[in-house]
Amino acid sequence: MDLSVIVPTFNEGPNVAELVRRTAAALPGRAIEIIFVDDSSDDTPDIIRAVAAQALVPVRLIHRDHPQGGLGGAVVEGIRAAASEFCVVMDGDLQHPPEVIAELLARAEVGDADVVVASRYTEGGTSDGLANAVRTLVSRGSTLLTKAMFPRKLHNCSDPMTGFFLLDRRSLDVESLRPRGFKILLEILARKQMRVAEVPFSFAPRFAGESKASFSQGMRFLTQLTMLRFGRMSAFAVVGGLGAVANLLITGGLTGLGVQYLVASVIASVLTIVGNFLALEYLVFADMRAESGLMRHRFLKSFTFNGIEALVRIPLLWLLVSEAHFHVVIATALTLLAAFVVRFVYHALVVYAPKRSRSAKIAAIREPLEDELAA
Ligand code: GDD
Ligand code: MN
Repeated sequence: MDLSVIVPTFNEGPNVAELVRRTAAALPGRAIEIIFVDDSSDDTPDIIRAVAAQALVPVRLIHRDHPQGGLGGAVVEGIRAAASEFCVVMDGDLQHPPEVIAELLARAEVGDADVVVASRYTEGGTSDGLANAVRTLVSRGSTLLTKAMFPRKLHNCSDPMTGFFLLDRRSLDVESLRPRGFKILLEILARKQMRVAEVPFSFAPRFAGESKASFSQGMRFLTQLTMLRFGRMSAFAVVGGLGAVANLLITGGLTGLGVQYLVASVIASVLTIVGNFLALEYLVFADMRAESGLMRHRFLKSFTFNGIEALVRIPLLWLLVSEAHFHVVIATALTLLAAFVVRFVYHALVVYAPKRSRSAKIAAIREPLEDELAA
């Protein structure tokens, strides 16, 4: 097998036949397979099976009934299952022209690269297929931000956000990846220094169907960036900080509207506690939710923590100021810092602790800490 082509799909039925036809035609005389990793809620899997029966190259289908990690999780699943060490990852909507695969493969066979990136932003590439000016601006801006955060690892990569690339699987430990959301290439390149080569390509308009990109994918991307760069604890801190700012704004806004200040403060606290919890659920600990039991139990644990924290912190503050004679500002800062660390450890190890078996528990408890070390 010369090459495995991995195609993540979510409701891409009308694109499947054309994609398989063009991919097979683009690589004559090569031993290739196409692996669809499908999370669709419609009849896409049936279409893939029907196309596979007629195709000129082997077409495999992995359908996930309980998808994890979204697009990125699907890609990792495909890389694991691939028969070849050379894995091309390509979207299922023909925005990535299959004809470019031949160039990616030829470049990889030179033998001096771990990843060959199909780039829109290198000499000869274009991003015309992006749906509109806003998407173009977001894509350009997030590319710059990402490159600034990983100046060395992404030095040779002009398009770390592309979903079209060839990976030599021997160059990394697939199990070390923590896929979340759309930006799987970034996940691969940010973990360790990879040798990157590039091939330009023109990002085409979709063949059929609609994009699955969304605002919530954007939020997921920013969380991923923070976690890859600074570790999970920083994403946790950013969420906490934004919560504090939101609390001030809501309290200020309500009192401005004439609401009594204690009432305003209670409303602001309830809103930020709930908002904070949702951000932890869907962003910071999104990858640990599935295994850590019921959401309402996690909320109760998290909520209880706030109460106990206040009960412990205030007497501690009193001790520091009147017994140990700390300045009140320093004492407050110390107790808040301690509370932050304890809060993070408690959420990572207790609230989001995996529930399955004891061995799975031990393995996953180690994970968030390993994430810190890797960062
Ligand atoms: N299995 C699976 N699961 N596939 C998914 C999922 C999912 O949850 N979400 C999206 N996909 C598939 C789509 O079916 C498509 O084949 C591919 O992933 C890309 O999704 P699009 O909805 O077409 O995304 P896009 O065109 O907006 O974004 C693409 O271009 C970006 C660059 O601007 C992707 O390649 C991004 O990764 C890339 O950053
Ligand atoms: Mn697309």
